[in-house]
Amino acid sequence: MTHRQLFFQHVAQTSDSPLALEIDRAEGVYLYTTDDQQYMDLISGIGVSNVGHRHPKVLAAIQAQLDKYLHLMVYGEYVQTPQTQLAQALAETLALCTSPYGQLSNVYFTNSGTEAIEGAMKLAKRFTGRTEIVSCINAYHGATQGALSLSGDENFKRNYRHLLTGIRHIEHGNMAHVEKIGYRTAAVVIEVITAEAGIRVPEPTYLQAVRQRCTEVGALLIIDEIQTGFGRTGSFWAFEAFGFVPDVLVCAKGMGGGMPIGAFISSPDVMSVFKNNPILGHITTFGGHPVSCAASLATLKIIRNEQLYAQAEAKGQLFRQLLRGSPAIKEIRGKGLMLAAEFASFEVLKPVIDRAIEKGVITDWFLFCNNSMRIAPPLIISEEQIREACEVILDAINA
Ligand SMILES: Cc1ncc(COP(=O)(O)O)c(C=O)c1O
Repeated sequence: MTHRQLFFQHVAQTSDSPLALEIDRAEGVYLYTTDDQQYMDLISGIGVSNVGHRHPKVLAAIQAQLDKYLHLMVYGEYVQTPQTQLAQALAETLALCTSPYGQLSNVYFTNSGTEAIEGAMKLAKRFTGRTEIVSCINAYHGATQGALSLSGDENFKRNYRHLLTGIRHIEHGNMAHVEKIGYRTAAVVIEVITAEAGIRVPEPTYLQAVRQRCTEVGALLIIDEIQTGFGRTGSFWAFEAFGFVPDVLVCAKGMGGGMPIGAFISSPDVMSVFKNNPILGHITTFGGHPVSCAASLATLKIIRNEQLYAQAEAKGQLFRQLLRGSPAIKEIRGKGLMLAAEFASFEVLKPVIDRAIEKGVITDWFLFCNNSMRIAPPLIISEEQIREACEVILDAINA
């Protein structure tokens, strides 16, 4: 059997139409198939490869850790240098960020984004003694049952009930809905810039109002920076550009430089509730795996030292400038290198995406917004590569 046949026979499928490119290797912004076709990755494996595929410094950090140790013990029992160094480095990125409950300097490591969301929700329930969680209608926070409950999309939830009760939904960006956050609310889980809703950038005053309301009613403000963090939107964390500080910050995806890792970060005071009543308030075996932590620390250093976030804005502007000319594109939304180009409909967009892939440029659409093209390449993409990519997209539109 060919690998393609084995893929369809033995690897669980989640749709009838997987892309099914057969990948041999990846480097920088490119994927290479087994028949030696080159593809430019404009979606970074959905927000993961911020420093590009197989960044040499990430590989070196992984190699160095491989020579020392792999997994040793469940989360939180042993002092492991990769974890402590990464936690310190994450805290440094947040050194100026003090929430009403203290500085965001305490990190709980997980394996993935959805696991970090689950942990953050539990943290808020335990800290506040409340159960209601407020989230946004078109948000995606993960696929486990707690995170799925946060989603406002019936289509994804309908056949998986019972899910969590006590979830209230508000519209992202709608000032009038802020009042729905109340004295029973344990936490608001919200993205700074919505990802799967098709990249909607709110007014800073909206997020500031959510912050203020959370403080007023004693709810924790949990922000999901799983797609926006690690330099994607023009600052290391997206929230930095919006003039507020959350109580809990959740990250994953781009954090690992291609390795699986997530985290939720809060103040020592808030996080301390996991230590008692009961002890081991949140447990994970592999969360904060030493190899993933080593890769993540290297990733963080690359993004900070090379200021990749500063380049994200200029590169995003170049995409906008080059694509703006096409009458098929109604609007380009986003910030930094987290962009959505809106077409008239999915029926118009899909053939453009297919054609661009045929010509070697991979884009995509969004879970809750299928008329918009996802453009979120590795932050290391060059000006020349952006020009090449846009030429392919524009040709695909014309075709
Ligand atoms: C905004 C956001 N939150 C949470 C998640 C879930 O992360 P993971 O797939 O690592 O569980 C995703 C994944 O796409 C996401 O985009």
